[in-house]
Amino acid sequence: MSHAGGKRRPIVGGNWKCNPATASSLDELCRNFDGVAPYLDKCDVYVCPSNLHVALVKDNFTPGVHVAPQNCNFKGCGAYTGEMSVDQIQDLGLGWVLIGHSERRGEFGLPTPAESNQLMATKLQYILDQGLNCVFCIGEPLSIRQKGIQAVLAECADQLADIVPILRALQDKSRVVIAYEPVWAIGTGKTATAEQAQEVHAFIRNLLADLFDADTAKAVRIQYGGSVKPDNARELMSQPDVDGALVGGASLDVRVFSELIKNSI
Ligand code: PGA
Repeated sequence: MSHAGGKRRPIVGGNWKCNPATASSLDELCRNFDGVAPYLDKCDVYVCPSNLHVALVKDNFTPGVHVAPQNCNFKGCGAYTGEMSVDQIQDLGLGWVLIGHSERRGEFGLPTPAESNQLMATKLQYILDQGLNCVFCIGEPLSIRQKGIQAVLAECADQLADIVPILRALQDKSRVVIAYEPVWAIGTGKTATAEQAQEVHAFIRNLLADLFDADTAKAVRIQYGGSVKPDNARELMSQPDVDGALVGGASLDVRVFSELIKNSI
């Protein structure tokens, strides 16, 4: 799915998180994606509905929009109360899943246990073994950003360390998309500047080049997430190492998603 060399094929995702409250609102939210149809030959688009709504909406998007659940477990089906298995996702005909969102890594603001880097690696291995593709989220909380850029880069490297052997063994590296989302920019309206985003994206790409090789670094797409809106998408996406956006709040806004995509390619 990636370009051979140069800029990669853009990928933009909408993350509905635990929204909407009513199933009756789903149709309108799905229709927000209708306007992306003319851009699908240039851009990959996915949407992450809430777990309860995945099966209700999966066939209601304009063809070519991927539905990617927001989480999954790392075993098949069985006595795993409250979990959603990769096997079930696959059975619904879905090809992508998102894992490691900061809100699952302890940034809910709720006393739910944080998912660890090691757990993320276990999930990723299972996802890939089962043939699904994965959006793998990383990103630093505000306390780390306040320590300075070296701490930010160290945190990103740390969040990727456990998946290095998995990526190494993966033939088609474009099956994993990294979503860099500084936690302090998520849902706060505080977007990282284009320069701040590029700084971390370039670091991640260089890290991939060091760990693997230049071709891998060129192939892996890195999305930016954190208060992306149509009016800041163009500047963020113009950065050489920013290959797309992961969009929370604005993906629930009527009609903005296609505008955002238009501004992203
Ligand atoms: P936001 O969320 O666009 O509302 O900041 C992004 C995300 O959490 O994926």
